[in-house]
Amino acid sequence: MAEEAKRLAACAAVDKHVQNNQVLGIGSGSTIVHAVHRLAERVRQENLTIVCIPTSFQARQLILQNGLTLSDLDRHPELDVAIDGADEVDSDLNLIKGGGGCLTQEKIVAGYAKCFIVIADYRKKSESLGEQWKKGIPIEVIPMAYVPVTRALTKNFGGAAELRMAVSKAGPVVTDNGNFILDWKFDKVHEWSEVNTAIKMIPGVVETGLFIDMAEVVYFGMEDGSVSVREKRPR
Ligand code: 5RP
Repeated sequence: MAEEAKRLAACAAVDKHVQNNQVLGIGSGSTIVHAVHRLAERVRQENLTIVCIPTSFQARQLILQNGLTLSDLDRHPELDVAIDGADEVDSDLNLIKGGGGCLTQEKIVAGYAKCFIVIADYRKKSESLGEQWKKGIPIEVIPMAYVPVTRALTKNFGGAAELRMAVSKAGPVVTDNGNFILDWKFDKVHEWSEVNTAIKMIPGVVETGLFIDMAEVVYFGMEDGSVSVREKRPR
């Protein structure tokens, strides 16, 4: 059910937002796999010229395995569209990302795209962050600083922060950038924009998994087979 919902959201986004001659950011996770499959299908069928910028090692492999054109930010510093998954989306289109540990490159690629589109299944749809996603906000840190950053997080903002441990490897998860991930389990709803800025100022923090005011549109694949679209509210 969730897998089909991911596919529906991914296809809706690719069909609506991908056009010929675009530079496209390719996110990470399990939902983006469906988007890349649909993208490869459209490129073949419609003979599209699309250049893809990956947000992780996984995304790079996906691009290559699907016969798409791989590039980077050196050659294409401005993207037309970036498409990515999310762990949770609130009613203001604020996101928690980084469940797969790729938040830093994901934020860079989304940040240099003219339009950032999110695809997710119904389990990610919230009114307020923390309602659905219970694993906390991922924060990428420089390894030597993970203890003081953990202390600063809990002292300044409460909750608890845990070093993310690897599965099938002894020790911590090491990101594509050679860093560690802290999962900060917050204990109340915060003013996320302020907290995001404050966390980024802690020495040793590389990036947070809070994506504030970045997404333009979110496509949710729903349990009933429909796609629910949540758009940025006009200011
Ligand atoms: C990885 C991410 C992913 O986009 C997020 O975890 C969603 O993944 P999935 O599509 O597997 O639910 O932020 O860092």
